[in-house]
Amino acid sequence: MKGLVLSGGKGSRLRPFTYTGAKQLVPVANKPVLFYAIEHLVAAGVRDLGVIVGDTGEQVRAAVGDGSRFGARVTYIEQPAPLGIAHAVLVAEQFLDGEPFVLFLGDNFLREGVREYVQGFLDSGANAQVQLCPVPNPSAFGVADVRDGRLLRVVEKPADPPSDLAVIGIYLFDAHVLEAVKSVRPSARGELEITDTIQWLIDHGLRVDHRVVRGPWIDTGRMDDILQANRLLLEDLQQRNEGTVDGGSRLVGTVVLERGARVERSVIHGPAIIGEETVVRDAYIGPFTSVYHHCRIERAELAASVVLEHTELVGLPHRIEDSLIGRFVRVEGEQSRPRVYRLVLGDHSRVAVP
Ligand code: G1P
Repeated sequence: MKGLVLSGGKGSRLRPFTYTGAKQLVPVANKPVLFYAIEHLVAAGVRDLGVIVGDTGEQVRAAVGDGSRFGARVTYIEQPAPLGIAHAVLVAEQFLDGEPFVLFLGDNFLREGVREYVQGFLDSGANAQVQLCPVPNPSAFGVADVRDGRLLRVVEKPADPPSDLAVIGIYLFDAHVLEAVKSVRPSARGELEITDTIQWLIDHGLRVDHRVVRGPWIDTGRMDDILQANRLLLEDLQQRNEGTVDGGSRLVGTVVLERGARVERSVIHGPAIIGEETVVRDAYIGPFTSVYHHCRIERAELAASVVLEHTELVGLPHRIEDSLIGRFVRVEGEQSRPRVYRLVLGDHSRVAVP
């Protein structure tokens, strides 16, 4: 059994973060979302992993390395252009070498992991197995039409969904899928769709099983999804302190301080995680907040947010909440009169001001 982890793609729904970084490397509870996928595969006994990379390949390589620290062996496979999930399978043909495999979209997060689904597939003798999850907005996903316990049809982002069952980004296939990906044609969005590939298998009489996952499942493709995944992971946080806290500070609830984090004259209400070498000074950090490495939060209040590395929030008169803040950002309060906003924001930034 092999694993094929997708870590390319455009990430257009997560701009501006994806102008400079891979969406799969956005940290959730201070760990890139891609790492959870790799860890779940290894936990399911899948150690021979192909990682599909595109424009952001260098960053992904630097972050994941040869896979040894996950107990995996990683082969990098270049997808020359983001032409769809089925196209990624096509470029991985040599790596897959006719073996059954798990296809795992690197921005998908499934809390329960994949062990049960991988084992179920291997025992079943099916040619493919899709995992489904009921969602309130099926039109945003591939959707399954299941009748009398049989998967009849899968449709990509239908305006009029046949059910509320989204096809999640974790699929199991045997070698038949290669014939399918060679047969499907690009969709209206110019991609070789995995949904059309699955439909091809169904239409050609191959056995495609389905499982409904327990969830929660999150496709972390948009900002709100990242905050939701962050909240979910922080709920499971285990206390750890590899940093320093001065006598004037108070940590309440589950708080993780990573190596070299410093808390001075501040209050942190967990669950929260403070990254390596990050300084929290004269500040308040509220529940469900993850601050990544090498940041400075000073004379500021922050809650229910995710802050990426090397960012500084200093001297702010209002609390920052429900926010996703990128790398090397500086937000600073200004005492000047008249009160004005002075902004340097990249394309696709969004700012809500009172
Ligand atoms: C892709 C698939 C879709 C699936 C989703 C899961 O959508 O095309 O069928 O439901 O992943 O995350 P995309 O993220 O490419 O829009």
